[in-house]
Amino acid sequence: MTAVEAKPMTTDEPLILSETDGRVGVIRLNRPKVLNALNPQLMSQLAEQLEAFDADDGISCIVISGNERAWAAGADIGDMAKQSAIDMYERDQFATWDRMKRIKKPIVAAVSGYALGGGCELMMLCDVIVASETAQIGQPEINIGVMPGAGGTQRLTKAVGKAIAMDVILGGRFLTAKEALQFGLVSRVVPAEHYFTEAMRAAQKLAKMPLTALKIAKEAVLKAHDSNLSDGLEYERKLFYLLFATEDQKEGMSAFVEKRKPNFKGR
Ligand code: CAA
Repeated sequence: MTAVEAKPMTTDEPLILSETDGRVGVIRLNRPKVLNALNPQLMSQLAEQLEAFDADDGISCIVISGNERAWAAGADIGDMAKQSAIDMYERDQFATWDRMKRIKKPIVAAVSGYALGGGCELMMLCDVIVASETAQIGQPEINIGVMPGAGGTQRLTKAVGKAIAMDVILGGRFLTAKEALQFGLVSRVVPAEHYFTEAMRAAQKLAKMPLTALKIAKEAVLKAHDSNLSDGLEYERKLFYLLFATEDQKEGMSAFVEKRKPNFKGR
């Protein structure tokens, strides 16, 4: 893989590490000593790198990974402990999350170990989630006197339904990877030693797909979270028609008819 850049930092270690592998951009969260707790500086760098990959014509798909022990154990509690409500309001830390929500290219999450609180919320912002069988997924904010603040009450409930979401958010229950798969929260569960390789394999496959169709299909699926069925169907139909304006649609359909492999250009 090719290292993109080592982010300049005032601390010893960069908070994220970025590299590319063919058309896949890879970002690793890099605060292993605190289980990749998500402080505002890390989130800001993550948003910046995601936007850079999103704008890069050489990249079609992005992977976010943690390490074996932790994808991310949540927002940085030490950082938040002394904040007042007004401090939290003024610093508007979730603005970086809004930036990540706007990434158009698909994001694959390679999740191993803890995915808790903001970590679970970050995982749910990703599109395809490859989880190690060691993953422990939850929203334990209740244990520290708060509740999810980066989308957990909404995205988790939409993903797994009310009864499981209540158990996880009110009771602080951790889901195993197997349970998360059964509830539709993750896309696949793989043996611990293969979680990153399998996520890369999934990403490399996506990276070969026609890029405009990938981005627009992602937009259409996300719309299902935000709209009622008839609005979502209407929206889907318009995006479907829109794809007939791409060269890849002409190429993909011609190749099928001519019984050959398509040569996609990403436009
Ligand atoms: N913030 C800051 N530091 C954290 C952290 C977090 N979210 N999670 C873990 N750490 C730190 C620990 O303080 C510890 O640091 P030290 O070695 O300096 O003591 C280090 O990471 C290792 O953690 P543990 O020793 O606790 O490891 P463990 O294996 O015994 O337990 C754990 C692991 C169950 C994940 C436990 O660390 C834990 O409960 N962490 C907090 C999880 C949590 O509450 N997350 C939600 C945060 S709030 C939030 O995310 C709000 C939101 O919606 C945006």
